[in-house]
Amino acid sequence: MSFRLQPPPVARPNRCQLFGPGSRVALFEKMAASEADVINLDLEDSVAPSDKDQARANIIAATHEVDWGKKCLSVRINGLDTPFWYRDVVDLLEQAGDRLDQIMIPKVGCAADIYAVDALVSSIEAAKGRQKRISFEVIIESAAGIAHVEEIAAASPRLQAMSLGAADFAASMGMATTGIGGTQENYYMLRDGARYWSDPWHWAQSAIVAACRTHGVLPVDGPFGDFGDDEGYRAQARRSATLGMVGKWAIHPKQVALANEVFTPSEEAVAEAREILEAMEAAKARGEGATVYKGRLVDIASIKQAEVIVRQAEMIAG
Ligand code: COA
Ligand code: MG
Repeated sequence: MSFRLQPPPVARPNRCQLFGPGSRVALFEKMAASEADVINLDLEDSVAPSDKDQARANIIAATHEVDWGKKCLSVRINGLDTPFWYRDVVDLLEQAGDRLDQIMIPKVGCAADIYAVDALVSSIEAAKGRQKRISFEVIIESAAGIAHVEEIAAASPRLQAMSLGAADFAASMGMATTGIGGTQENYYMLRDGARYWSDPWHWAQSAIVAACRTHGVLPVDGPFGDFGDDEGYRAQARRSATLGMVGKWAIHPKQVALANEVFTPSEEAVAEAREILEAMEAAKARGEGATVYKGRLVDIASIKQAEVIVRQAEMIAG
């Protein structure tokens, strides 16, 4: 291990991020009443250009009026290539209530994108005497974003989470796909004439997880578009959890329970992790660094793997 220890990410549950357009006020109370850990009110791509001003006003009002409980309340601003983003930041920071926790910056391509937003946010916070420091989350959804993912993860102490945005990412990469995330029909291997589908998002997800873990940021899987396909959502979410991601977006309320199910360690998984820790305690008492648990090797590294599961379960329960 490098003598530089891996910084822990912020200790808050981030199993599900529920999105809703800032232009659909009728959804806000329903979102607040949901079981999602994070609420993402959207000013970007689910809001038509002609609705941007009204959506901004709706969201600002909702930071004052809606009871968001203990949820992390985040607003997705428009991208830095649009004429909307500066107004999003200025109006939110000047007018939103203290309940606003986070700003999501879409389509980041380099660390300077975050620097620009950070400078503006810091100046308005100081001018307005805002007591609560706004945190950031970003979406990696372009070729530039994935190429610069590590410098982006390191760009600001405000940065708490990073998501993969599969649809924009695929478009930017020139991928021949149409669905938002999940299995892609033409991405298969052949063996003896039979097709085996592999995961076209694997590399981008792993790159995001590595950058996030290096810099203490939460890695999150983005949207799954086909909200009629629960098993497809579960399969995608399980792959993401296996690779180290802590949660996934919901673009429809029925996906919230699916994300919570996958990203909450199961009772069996927690029980097994605790047993591994006990087995290693017993081994240590015997002066051994490795032992056998249910017929397989466990050693010092197994302690760290088991601790990931136990810590996650305790953080969610607490
Ligand atoms: N949050 C909370 N509740 C929602 C919701 C959301 N995002 N989307 C829909 N609902 C509610 C509906 O109001 C409806 O409630 P009711 O039973 O009280 O009438 C119920 O859930 C079922 O909704 P349904 O009719 O299936 O969906 P819809 O046609 O109203 O909306 C979408 C479907 C996909 C357009 C909508 O879910 C949506 O806008 N999702 C978010 C899109 C987004 O933000 N994209 C940006 C990130 S990729
Ligand atoms: Mg996008």
